[in-house]
Amino acid sequence: MRLVCVEEGEVGAFVRLVSRLGCSCRVVCSGGVCRVYLEYVPSSLRVLKGFAAWIGYLLGRCRPVVPVPAASLPGLPGLLGAVHVSDGGDVCFERVGGGSVCLPVDVFWSHMGVFGSTGSGKSTTTAYVVSRLASCGVVGVVFDWHGEYRGLLGAFGSGFYEYSYPGLPRLPLLPGGDVDAAVDVFSDVLGLSDNQALLMLDLLESIRSYCLTGELRGRLGILLQLGGGPPRALDDVCRGGEGSLRGFMRLVMELYNRLYVVESRGEKEAWAALLRRLRMALREPGLFSLEAGSLEDVVQLPSEGIVVFNLSRIRSGRSRALYALLLARLLYEEAYRTNRLMNTVLVFEEAHNLNPRRGGMTGGVLSRLAEEARKYRLGIIVVDQSPGLLDKSLLANLNTVIMHRVHSSRDLEALKSVAPSSRELEKTLPTLRTGEAILASTALPAPVPIIIRAR
Ligand SMILES: Nc1ncnc2c1ncn2[C@@H]1O[C@H](COP(=O)(O)OP(=O)(O)OP(=O)(O)O)[C@@H](O)[C@H]1O
Ligand SMILES: [Mg+2]
Repeated sequence: MRLVCVEEGEVGAFVRLVSRLGCSCRVVCSGGVCRVYLEYVPSSLRVLKGFAAWIGYLLGRCRPVVPVPAASLPGLPGLLGAVHVSDGGDVCFERVGGGSVCLPVDVFWSHMGVFGSTGSGKSTTTAYVVSRLASCGVVGVVFDWHGEYRGLLGAFGSGFYEYSYPGLPRLPLLPGGDVDAAVDVFSDVLGLSDNQALLMLDLLESIRSYCLTGELRGRLGILLQLGGGPPRALDDVCRGGEGSLRGFMRLVMELYNRLYVVESRGEKEAWAALLRRLRMALREPGLFSLEAGSLEDVVQLPSEGIVVFNLSRIRSGRSRALYALLLARLLYEEAYRTNRLMNTVLVFEEAHNLNPRRGGMTGGVLSRLAEEARKYRLGIIVVDQSPGLLDKSLLANLNTVIMHRVHSSRDLEALKSVAPSSRELEKTLPTLRTGEAILASTALPAPVPIIIRAR
């Protein structure tokens, strides 16, 4: 017998103990009790197996169990620690003053925001939510801006697989070959003006047409013909792979240098600004290639468990944002192309870098993803210090919010659009202690004060 039953609150500590002893295990939680299956026990500890089973039965905690599917992560080289799997269920939070409040997993396909001033406990709470979702069989994909989820998820006893720069999978800059999608992502991350976005669109389309047919079209065609034919950089771009991006940057530079033949000063300035922004976002090697590609060319996500993309070692914030948005876009393309239910929640820390507030109601890539991803069971969790910096159309699509301590009047004002506002709430939010929060959701009749117990 290789089964131990542990109270849900104790499972993190138990799994850490088991791992320290050199054993590996799988965990299934349901109804407040977790079953820990010891999958490997070193021969020096064989006695533990019998002892564990004996304790479990003696305490009467283990009920009869059905066989559990193997917690497999195809294509990934193994997990760190244990994996939680379960038969679906709820994500529960401790209420302040006793009891609990639970949200069914389905609520998370309609997106969540975790907000609060710095140090109020947002990332800890998010790690808790992701670890609970994983134990309900949901895949968690975390874009870890500051490299902190390894510790946070570990503390909640959750297994995960981490990619970290320079070992991050290289992403194609044209998700699904869609030039418009690429320009949308660039526009958000680089803050391109309409003029620059149009320039970029023209450039990418001309490059694509040259690579496919050898014909030079658009502005690119005019510039290249005026300036003595296509430079070698263009062939590097068409060859794809790692060199394609370097080729692209050389090409843009070359085009800029040939601009002396173009009369318009405005055009030259637009190119200069575009070039400078592209260099900022694309200078770190190994992250992107200028190719069309799909998710399966890049990374095989698991069917359950948590994958962390640790972006903290990428120096440029713009590159981090570009990486997170492009990967999210690839995931969405995959869902759309295959019409598959993804059962996945994407976590975006520092979301204002990916979804800056603009005038009017025209949302960015993340806002559109929030509008369209729900039907594929692709949920979004945005985590940010300042909801006031996020686009209104994204906020309007968050059906659940966890509000930690918030002081600024701009942020309190922004929260009014995502939670039923009341004087009481406005008075409470600035006074919350670290780890305390207000949970509001369309799935609940009224906001509930909760507390997250960090381990
Ligand atoms: N629920 C909690 N109970 C006790 N301490 C907590 C809790 N949540 C967070 N803390 C502590 O507060 C500090 C900040 O936590 P955390 O990083 O989660 O906050 P944050 O809001 O994400 O901060 P930042 O804005 O810097 O990203 C950490 O030292 C953490 O250990
Ligand atoms: Mg944080």
